[in-house]
Amino acid sequence: MNISVIGAGYVGLVSAVCFAELGHKVIVVDNDPSKLLILKEGRVPIHEDLLPELLQRHLSQSLIFTDSIAQAVRASEVIFITVGTPSSSTGDADLCCVEAVIRELAMHITSRKVIVEKSTVPVRTCDSIRRTMELNGAAPHLFSVASNPEFLREGTAVMDFLYPDRIVVGVDDSYSEEKLSQVYAPLWEGSYYRREGLIPGDESHSPRFIITNTKSAELIKHASNAFLAMKISFINAVANIAERVGADIDQIKEGVGSDRRIGPGFLNAGIGFGGSCFPKDVLAFRAVARDAGYDFDLLDSVMRINQDQRHQFLRKVRDVLWTLRDKRIAILGLAFKADTDDVRESPAIEIAKALIKEGCHITAYDPVAMPRALEQIQTRIGDGTIEAASDPYTAAKNADAVLILTEWGEFASLDLTKLRREMRLPVIIDGRNLYRPEEMDAAGFVYYSVGRAPVFPSDRISAAPDLMFEEIA
Ligand code: NAD
Ligand code: UGA
Repeated sequence: MNISVIGAGYVGLVSAVCFAELGHKVIVVDNDPSKLLILKEGRVPIHEDLLPELLQRHLSQSLIFTDSIAQAVRASEVIFITVGTPSSSTGDADLCCVEAVIRELAMHITSRKVIVEKSTVPVRTCDSIRRTMELNGAAPHLFSVASNPEFLREGTAVMDFLYPDRIVVGVDDSYSEEKLSQVYAPLWEGSYYRREGLIPGDESHSPRFIITNTKSAELIKHASNAFLAMKISFINAVANIAERVGADIDQIKEGVGSDRRIGPGFLNAGIGFGGSCFPKDVLAFRAVARDAGYDFDLLDSVMRINQDQRHQFLRKVRDVLWTLRDKRIAILGLAFKADTDDVRESPAIEIAKALIKEGCHITAYDPVAMPRALEQIQTRIGDGTIEAASDPYTAAKNADAVLILTEWGEFASLDLTKLRREMRLPVIIDGRNLYRPEEMDAAGFVYYSVGRAPVFPSDRISAAPDLMFEEIA
């Protein structure tokens, strides 16, 4: 099929190369000239596993990049919209970019198209798209509007797209249903999984193809993200109780997550969720509910617990280091999660900024997010500073503490002896629970994590006087 994708960001670019991988001809439109330049040269502007390989495989053959919506409209039967939908100051989704695209589409439409909203949007956005198309002169018989929410995660986006749990298609007419069924047929019929040269995964995979009306599809996306965010806040709340009573969140996670009705996913306690989606989507869903006349205050608690989790972490840093001014702190990880260079709404960035404001001198290392992170953080705030290191051990040089803020695989297998040798004080505060407390105890570290008892080697020393007294006696 001839498809266009408008907006070549994390979702648009991955969707476009994957549509090409499924055998379609794809035109990708973006209005950012520097991004287009990079893409036309066959380079990828974001860090995403498998994306460079797929771009190389399909560029020019079945994938082209342009800044012209007019060209895309002329050449395609199905048009996916994947532009950003950030939070506005009131928490509602800001749909300006979507509207701008729709107005332009309306100007160029001359034959029947399916316009598919793939960006995450509030319920009833498809209705607004229809109205705006007509208002801007598009004849109603020339277009259908559908919703096809995207569930990929950054870092595993290509695999999530090609091996999804489900594909949700929200349609209000049979023409859209037929076209979108065709677009995704290689996945739900399974022909892709039998193809030679496929991106390897579970070849017995069989995603569910779920057809709903447009409003249900729009709500499925917000409800899915809000539910996952709620799971994270729930386990973080339980972790806070565990810390206070001396229980262990890892054991709790195993016990709770083994119930198949609950499931083990998204039960990792830490410094709270970040990223460009969960925070904005929980707020937007809250606003959607309010507009619909329902007070979904559970979502306020999800956000409050999430925000508080960062403060709890900063409290631990203060507990261990006492005053913060002029302390030297190594930060490992600035991306909002592992395997991405995305730092939007990253809890790590928020923690780094708070520490710099308090006068700390930070040396930070992230395997890929360093340039984007430094764009977000001023290198000097008040008396505090931040500088980049080339590896975890250089970051730890003369540090009073190492903070682990992103769950990168390489941070879970540090050479602890080497790390300790570099540091001024043997203190690790782990916001992602990458180590077992016993391991850190054995390595001689003071170790604080989330939802587990802290390790303080002086606890052992404080037990010593009794023994000595007995010896003397
Ligand atoms: P992004 O900011 O990375 O990409 C958006 C792209 O749209 C940018 O390249 C921008 O230049 C382009 N754009 C904006 N206005 C345009 C216009 N008028 N014409 C052409 N191009 C235009 O955003 P993203 O992270 O890809 O998210 C896009 C949407 O998908 C959001 O609604 C988001 O909530 C949703 N989503 C994101 C993810 C994710 O993992 N990032 C996953 C699922 C859903
Ligand atoms: C999330 C969803 O998982 C995707 O299904 C969805 O498509 C996407 O949002 C979106 O709508 O944009 P993503 O933001 O890429 O994907 O990352 P996640 O893996 O969901 O992680 C989000 C945040 O939660 C990260 O900060 C991560 O560190 C944190 N997290 C995740 C936890 O703190 N604990 C967990 O158990 C899982």
